[in-house]
Amino acid sequence: MDWLWTLVELLLIPALVLLLGFIVSLLFEAFRRRSTSSLHDGHPSFEDPKSKKKVPFPTIFDPAEKYISLIIPAFNEEQRLPSALDETLIYLQQRAANDKAFSYEVVLVDDGSTDGTIMVASDFIENYSIDNVRVIPLGRNQGKGEAIRKGMLHSRGELLLMLDADGATKVNDLEKLESQIRAQAEKEIQSAAVPSDSSSRISDIPIAAFGSRAHLEEKALASRKWYRNFLMKGFHIVVLLSAGSGIRDTQCGFKMFTRAAARKLFTNVRLKRWCFDVELVYLCKHLSIPMIEISVTWSEIPGSKVSLRSIPHMLGELCLMSVGYRTRLWSIRA
Ligand SMILES: *[C@@H]1O[C@H](CO)[C@@H](O)[C@H](O)[C@H]1NC(C)=O
Repeated sequence: MDWLWTLVELLLIPALVLLLGFIVSLLFEAFRRRSTSSLHDGHPSFEDPKSKKKVPFPTIFDPAEKYISLIIPAFNEEQRLPSALDETLIYLQQRAANDKAFSYEVVLVDDGSTDGTIMVASDFIENYSIDNVRVIPLGRNQGKGEAIRKGMLHSRGELLLMLDADGATKVNDLEKLESQIRAQAEKEIQSAAVPSDSSSRISDIPIAAFGSRAHLEEKALASRKWYRNFLMKGFHIVVLLSAGSGIRDTQCGFKMFTRAAARKLFTNVRLKRWCFDVELVYLCKHLSIPMIEISVTWSEIPGSKVSLRSIPHMLGELCLMSVGYRTRLWSIRA
């Protein structure tokens, strides 16, 4: 039976070495990210492409100056961005025209695009002014999660909405999230032990609203390849294990936070790419931020499928998150 033993050794030893290497690199990476750099380190100001005037970066620690901020991460989106931005701005302008109390800003975070994404955005800034449309250039590609984090930390809204650059969700669906957040805020103000003064604003009550495509799942299951469904189920289970239950669709790119919630969440979040949404759910639980999951429209836009190659990266991120929080290398600031 010697040959069998040799075979086991031959397979087992490399496997153990690989596993050890994986664990060590996870610990190293968790250690490297133990402190979150909260604010943008590069250019400390926005630039108006027309007048070349600099506008200093506001931060999430400042009081709100707008009713709503829309944060759009963009990586090489020159094709899909113009029509999505057009639709978004027409909607926002219309609301502002009908309601004097409504003010908005769109914060586009350029995640190191190598195409004309910034040029597209500059055209919009010229038409809508630097007060309403801004670009944060990250310089090099850092990941969608990181782009959204930077955008959130430099926004001025009482409410902050993240949405995808491809316009997969109709922008007016933000009203669904907005009204649910308002309802939840009412409830919290009413149930508060201390009589609330009229000055308690929606921005001061931490609430998170997650757009969701879970209601579309049945139809999607029927139309997708079997292995995609299999992987999807597997991903749901892993998410459940690492963040806990509460949200059925963590990955939808359409989410709204009150300013207080965004301040707590985005000064803590460490994951930079695909799974930062899962970390948001985890953080909401640990910071006791109420989460609401709300069905939104969703149209499959060509070119936005998650590639199978990103699955190992996603699993790596979830492992990293588990290691970071379990070892207490990652502390949560309240
Ligand atoms: C800006 O305004 C001009 C003139 O109204 C229009 O032709 C152009 O399409 C607008 N561009 C954008 C990006 O909205």
